[in-house]
Amino acid sequence: MPSTVIVGTQWGDEGKGKVTDFLAERAGVVVRYQGGNNAGHTVVVGEEEFRLRLVPSGILYPEKLCLLGNGMVIDPEALVSELSELEGRGVSTANLRISDRAHLILPYHKRLDELEERGRGAGKIGTTGRGIGPAYNDKSARIGIRMADLLDPAEFHEKLAANVELKNHYLKQVFGADGFSAAAIEEEVLALAEKFKGRITDTSVVLHEALRAGKKVLFEGAQGTFLDLDHGTYPFVTSSHPTAGGACIGAGVGPTAIDKVIGVVKAYTTRVGAGPFPTELKDATGDRLRERGHEFGTVTGRPRRCGWLDAVVVRYAVRVSGLTGIAITKLDVLDGLATVKICTGYRIKGEVTQHFPASLKAVEAAEPVYEELPGWSESISDATKLADLPANARRYLDRIAELAGVPIILVSVGQRRRQTLILDELF
Ligand code: GDP
Ligand code: IMO
Ligand code: MG
Repeated sequence: MPSTVIVGTQWGDEGKGKVTDFLAERAGVVVRYQGGNNAGHTVVVGEEEFRLRLVPSGILYPEKLCLLGNGMVIDPEALVSELSELEGRGVSTANLRISDRAHLILPYHKRLDELEERGRGAGKIGTTGRGIGPAYNDKSARIGIRMADLLDPAEFHEKLAANVELKNHYLKQVFGADGFSAAAIEEEVLALAEKFKGRITDTSVVLHEALRAGKKVLFEGAQGTFLDLDHGTYPFVTSSHPTAGGACIGAGVGPTAIDKVIGVVKAYTTRVGAGPFPTELKDATGDRLRERGHEFGTVTGRPRRCGWLDAVVVRYAVRVSGLTGIAITKLDVLDGLATVKICTGYRIKGEVTQHFPASLKAVEAAEPVYEELPGWSESISDATKLADLPANARRYLDRIAELAGVPIILVSVGQRRRQTLILDELF
């Protein structure tokens, strides 16, 4: 059962898409297990750039099976537009299947996301506005509508009517906003469903058959460890479980089906949206990382907040997801810096800790304790093996591995597939 989970170790946008696409060449199946189109996974193949939102980053290999797991929340409109965009660019989506247990994001979820954010005022989370939180709310409130319901129009009609009634009441009473017409949503969504209902199936069964047949499976996490509902900087998190445990629940496999867990670590740190970020740089170095790393959101285009690598964060991810190895991305973005810093602990009220606190007040008060290492002036984008890297870049990597306590399995030095150095056994 050779299967590997890929998780973001920071606040998302670590380069999970690039790493998944690279590893997918060796896999048979790629599964998304949580989140929805709040994700934006960029994959570059040749001269083409693909920004995947719902579809797993294995789709660019036509023979790979791609699954949207039960743990996802799926907006039918976004799904149809992503599939037709891919098909329009000559990418076959014939091998894509959708879990019958995945929940739907409907128009009122998007509207509520927007209104609830507005209502939070200065305390806003900075969500992607895609209706993610409201859809997961309905799931845990046990009133959500699932893909399976689209296959039974009478069931869909009934559930939608009950939900719209409830939401309209909430929209009017709490926000003084207009309500929705259940009939209009029904007509729109059933028309969209015509385009993908043939793909709806029990993806857990499909996955188990693939595992039994000895196929290699990649579980592609979206978001990151610190956006996890339980393990992240709550409440500045998303509403799902990007950490490795989420793969079991969100794809329908037991922990015994997973052999390896790879954490994707950007060589520095970024965050989009609000919430604490101890190593954030609000200076020229932060601006330099943003410019050189093109750190602007894939989904919303917002500038990403940038800062030094935080080993407290990485170690935390190693612990909560049981990482067996890490993949370092965007090392090339650090080219040309005289020195590079790694945060090794936080000083909070005079005490140094190596554990990320639960209290956001404590995180906000945390002063990073930095270790400074010499930088490198050379461009590393053409490196193809570890030995091609300048000694100081290798020293930086060694120190990261030492602080993380797990080996580095690959290093990425650019967007392209060939800009990937393999350091250890991948699968
Ligand atoms: P994801 O959400 O974790 O998949 O990451 P995103 O795709 O949102 O953001 C990562 C960005 O960095 C994408 O534009 C990638 O193409 C790009 N990228 C990935 N790896 C590297 C790398 O090693 N170097 C550089 N310069 N860019 C990279
Ligand atoms: P990928 O998969 C970075 C952030 C949002 C916001 C918070 C909650 O590309 O790494 P949500 O819309 O999920 O309710 O927003 O989570 N966020 C991400 N940040 N990368 C992502 O995905 C993200 N998905 C959500 O900015 O702070
Ligand atoms: Mg992204």
